[in-house]
Amino acid sequence: MYGVDTSVHPAYRSRGVGGLLMEARFAVLKSLNLRGLIAGSLIIDYEQVADSETVDEYVADVVAGRRFDTNLSKQLRKGFKVHNLIPNYVEDPRTSNWGAAIVWENPDYAPAARPAVAALPARYDMRLRAPRPAFGLGAV
Ligand SMILES: CC(C)(COP(=O)(O)OP(=O)(O)OC[C@H]1O[C@@H](n2cnc3c(N)ncnc32)[C@H](O)[C@@H]1OP(=O)(O)O)[C@@H](O)C(=O)NCCC(=O)NCCS
Repeated sequence: MYGVDTSVHPAYRSRGVGGLLMEARFAVLKSLNLRGLIAGSLIIDYEQVADSETVDEYVADVVAGRRFDTNLSKQLRKGFKVHNLIPNYVEDPRTSNWGAAIVWENPDYAPAARPAVAALPARYDMRLRAPRPAFGLGAV
């Protein structure tokens, strides 16, 4: 599964909201018996040290816990692993335009099992409503 753009309002960050959103995604993955989740991470504090550290050094420091990145550190904490770095991922000076592909592997993935599509947490049926008469054209 591919995941993009998890965002928590700045006033509510670091209070567990983003973690709950990530856990909800993991629950969907497990219910569908998917192998894992790949997402893009903005390494949002890289610009602060970009003059003195290469992006590889920076990410290695974040992975080792020697630096805290406002996005990537939280995603690593929830079990994501860095897969590779992506140049020109976004136009964002905070990241010097770098991103990281991050992967979460489903520990319960069973390759032999059929995808449990019927076990989706919720299913929605769409039914078309009968057309309404145009406003003002019905009997008065
Ligand atoms: C990434 C983002 C969604 C995380 O949301 P959040 O609500 O701040 O995250 P949480 O508070 O749930 O933190 C996630 C984990 O990091 C840990 N954490 C949070 N703040 C921390 C801090 N200052 N120091 C150490 N750990 C911290 C939490 O404890 C939690 O782990 P846990 O569940 O094991 O306790 C949020 O920072 C954000 O919206 N960023 C901007 C948008 C963006 O660029 N998103 C990423 C690209 S898609």
